[in-house]
Amino acid sequence: MKNKNPLWLDNAVFYEIYPQSFNDTNGDGIGDFRGIIEKLDYIRELGCTAIWMNPCFESPFGDAGYDVSDYMKAAPRYGTNEDLKRLFNECHKRDMHILLDLVPGHTSVEHKWFKESLKAEKNEFTDRYVWTDSIWEEPQGMGCIRGISDRDGSCAVNFFSHQPALNYGFYKCDRPWQQSMDSEGAKATLEAMKDVMRFWLGMGCDGFRVDMAGSLVKHDEDGKGTIKLWQNVREFLDKEFPEAAMVSEWGEPDKSLQGGFHMDFLLHFGPSHYNDLFRCEEPFFSSRGKGDVSEFVKKYTENYEKSQRKGLICIPSGNHDMDRLARSIHGDNLKIAFAFLLSMPGAPFIYYGDEIGMRYVEGLTSVEGGYGRTGSRTPMQWDNTTNAGFSSASKELLYIPMDESPDRPTAQAQMNDKNSLRSEIKRLIDIRQSRKALQSRGDIKFVYAEKNEYPLAYLRGSGDEWVLVIINPANREVSFDCRFTPVDTIYSFGGEIKVEDGRITVPPCFAGYFEV
Ligand code: NOJ
Ligand code: CA
Repeated sequence: MKNKNPLWLDNAVFYEIYPQSFNDTNGDGIGDFRGIIEKLDYIRELGCTAIWMNPCFESPFGDAGYDVSDYMKAAPRYGTNEDLKRLFNECHKRDMHILLDLVPGHTSVEHKWFKESLKAEKNEFTDRYVWTDSIWEEPQGMGCIRGISDRDGSCAVNFFSHQPALNYGFYKCDRPWQQSMDSEGAKATLEAMKDVMRFWLGMGCDGFRVDMAGSLVKHDEDGKGTIKLWQNVREFLDKEFPEAAMVSEWGEPDKSLQGGFHMDFLLHFGPSHYNDLFRCEEPFFSSRGKGDVSEFVKKYTENYEKSQRKGLICIPSGNHDMDRLARSIHGDNLKIAFAFLLSMPGAPFIYYGDEIGMRYVEGLTSVEGGYGRTGSRTPMQWDNTTNAGFSSASKELLYIPMDESPDRPTAQAQMNDKNSLRSEIKRLIDIRQSRKALQSRGDIKFVYAEKNEYPLAYLRGSGDEWVLVIINPANREVSFDCRFTPVDTIYSFGGEIKVEDGRITVPPCFAGYFEV
């Protein structure tokens, strides 16, 4: 596979925007495109060069927009297509790039394709979704929608029961209603999705984060069918939009890169052990120092090798689907977590508000299908004005209630404090941007990552330049044998290391980058 790489991806640092909760400019209590444009300088000042924005298309918002009812129309609550185009342009003016969130696996039940496919008489959209041929037969292994129309069949769903699965075919067919990837219906779905991509890329967006990219073809355990499908998309992109960047929510970089994606996400579910780092009973990054990083490193290395040491695995600080980082990691340990996140291969992704340590808000009622995720999606805290500067609306109108704690962090306070988390992150991004070794494509070799032990140490390298990274989140001094001798300090937080006879002693709660 060629996977021509848009050059800007090599040193991209992403900022994820959940548009609902970022910045409201018309006082309706919900974020909007104009609000994002207003804050682009803030994001750029932090050092981020690219944005991933969650779905912003017309939708009944039963899953916060991951239930699209019109792929080619911006949701009016955020603005018009013209406003969105302006957002693309404003990003480009600042030398930033923006990825939209493509949800190719399913639509909302309100999408006109689905309404047509419900009809008993055959039409253009009869095969747009995965339907069985009898109401009494359910698609194995998937939930379904049935009994709501005259069509005799059950329609598979991908996620919530209002998200019918689009039909890209089955890799192996063993029932008469299952269509192959080459069937007319499956091919038409893929062409329709290419049209969606064409539409937004033509308007100036820089690419897509692709939702559930690894699950489009059904009965495809090894992913062979889905890889083939994305290779087809890759051909189309190479021909028409060679600069478009593609990042997958897949969690298997070997498959995703084969499919022509540029980068893949490390997922917080499945076998990645990502949660061992920040989100489990004893996270590695907690100062208690009772965590274990070794399983994560093992899995990471496996994936790294499988993807030919391309290492294009993106590790997010968090996202709209998981608990806020600050729910389990506190104080200086957040800085140490970012010293890790910002020195790993692949593009780092900072979830809005994580740069100021925004908290998970406990006890909220679900909003738009958020359920437990709602507490991680609360409005951004900008300053000390009304609603923390997010919106001029009255409290009851806010999309999700604010974090009401009196000491909630704000962007403004942290920008004025050189010891704040945000200031530390800004420094870390600056350092990453000054060295190829620390960027996406720099190599990684783990030096020390032992079971239940601290610290974590690894080398990052590019050409002749090698950087030793030492991370000790534990609140105790630790030491390890190391055959690389740190010469110059590039970055350090939490004190100084001691080097003696090939043994490095590391202070409590420490992070450092060294030339070797
Ligand atoms: C993953 C998205 O990140 C999540 O928010 C959504 O609910 C599901 N995919 C379904 O689209
Ligand atoms: Ca608004």
